[in-house]
Amino acid sequence: MKRAVLYLLLAVTLLVPLVAGAEDAALVARGAYLAKAADCAGCHTAPKGGAPFAGGLGMGSPFGTIMTSNITPDPVAGIGKYRFEDFARALREGVAPDGKHLYPAMPYPSFSKIDDDDMRALYAYFMHGVAPVPVAAPPTRLPFPFDQRWALALWNLAFAPSGRYAPRTDRDAQWNRGAYLVQSLGHCGACHTPRGPAFEERGYTESSRRFLTGGTNDHWFAPNLTGDPGAGLGRLGAADIAAFLKSGHGGGQVAFGSMVQVVEDSTQYLNDDDLNAIAVYLKSLPARESAGAYAPRSLAAKVSAQALRTGEPARPGAGIYLAYCAKCHRADGGGEPRKYPRLAGNPAVLSAETTSLVRLLVEGGNSPETRGGPKREKMPSFAGQLTDLQIAQVITFARTSWGNDARPVTQRDVTTLRHALHK
Ligand code: HEC
Ligand code: HEC
Ligand code: HEC
Repeated sequence: MKRAVLYLLLAVTLLVPLVAGAEDAALVARGAYLAKAADCAGCHTAPKGGAPFAGGLGMGSPFGTIMTSNITPDPVAGIGKYRFEDFARALREGVAPDGKHLYPAMPYPSFSKIDDDDMRALYAYFMHGVAPVPVAAPPTRLPFPFDQRWALALWNLAFAPSGRYAPRTDRDAQWNRGAYLVQSLGHCGACHTPRGPAFEERGYTESSRRFLTGGTNDHWFAPNLTGDPGAGLGRLGAADIAAFLKSGHGGGQVAFGSMVQVVEDSTQYLNDDDLNAIAVYLKSLPARESAGAYAPRSLAAKVSAQALRTGEPARPGAGIYLAYCAKCHRADGGGEPRKYPRLAGNPAVLSAETTSLVRLLVEGGNSPETRGGPKREKMPSFAGQLTDLQIAQVITFARTSWGNDARPVTQRDVTTLRHALHK
């Protein structure tokens, strides 16, 4: 009898820490998943093999380059001394424990919506799942007056939203999950919502008219994600959007520019339920800020097909397209599934803002590489082969052929951007 009690005691003393350990491990694992959804590593890791989360990535902003912090649990160089309350305040309010105000290049206006359970899981991950790196990140040096961090307190009062995500009772659980991921952790609006004169996002929920209607950051234009059938997601199905986020390929489009990193670092790791929830939420957004149009059976579409077939291209861009682009994107603009994007009807090609198109042609790029997705393909740079005028002509051709209808690109658009990019 005595022995039985002893065994029982022994079993309890051994099991309690084991169970608690398992709970902690589950919390840390959930935090790791949420850190992917929020792409903490994408911003907090230096390019070319920097240690994960050790900071040192320079982020371009209209005020100068802002350096990301070391957020590993090192007590001196990183955030090892942060209590949970410090961590939550930095993420939600943009204030570090020493009172330092963070620049909104850290998406705390979106992270303010992260709920308490997720915040605890993130904290557990950063304290117990991330390796400490004892090297301080380089400091941010902005010119006066942008180096006056105290002024950000005023900015926060004027622009930063506060309060957790409030589920909408007129929508179901899947829609609310999608809205939560897009608005909080995913901080999709940081790129896809236009910014105002003080760098503020013009809205943080679907109740704002400009929310997710397209924005330019660091010379990449992130397109309209509302239901606009021209340059928005109106003609894409929810399944196409989910596939695009998982593999960078969906509905004939291929991720490019700054979206490549988002897919590689973040969205490819989301589970199918979460991807579908995001797609359902995006598909619920009514068409706003409409631009561009696609009419594949229009007379204009037939004329451009004819011009390309007869080899007597009516427009200067057509000859350039046949010589330099048709090999991959095909003469009919149809692209090749799982390899090259279609340009016919591609919303990114139809956007009112053409920064991304010009930049892609000047710099070239590559499609994302993901677990289980198609392999990486290259889009060449044409900076050395085509003049600014020719780049403008070939983009204009793509924007006005096969039924595409969007405003032309001028030589000046190209020259201005090349100056800004120093390319
Ligand atoms: C879009 C880029 C971006 C993303 C995504 C991002 N951060 Fe940041 N973060 C920054 C920048 C930039 C700073 C530095 C801001 C400054 O110096 O004012 C920063 C600062 C911080 C700080 C303050 C550290 C200190 O004391 O200096 C913490 C903590 C932090 N981030 C945590 C996170 C976590 C956790 C995530 C993911 C949930 C995350 N960040 C995602 C850009 C980002
Ligand atoms: C760092 C900036 C950035 C962030 C953050 C970002 N995107 Fe993007 N996104 C872009 C850019 C640039 C493009 C245009 C290039 C392309 O089509 O791949 C794009 C394209 C897209 C497209 C294709 C749209 C089209 O019509 O061509 C979808 C869908 C999309 N993003 C969804 C999202 C979602 C959902 C999130 C949040 C989880 C998100 N993005 C976060 C920059 C970003
Ligand atoms: C060797 C094959 C190849 C050639 C040649 C090529 N491209 Fe691409 N293009 C790609 C790939 C791959 C992508 C996918 C995204 C990336 O690479 O960043 C792409 C993306 C694009 C996109 C963005 C659409 C999207 O959904 O990703 C446009 C616009 C584009 N190319 C236009 C052109 C034009 C115009 C030319 C000729 C001047 C051209 N391309 C030549 C392979 C090619």
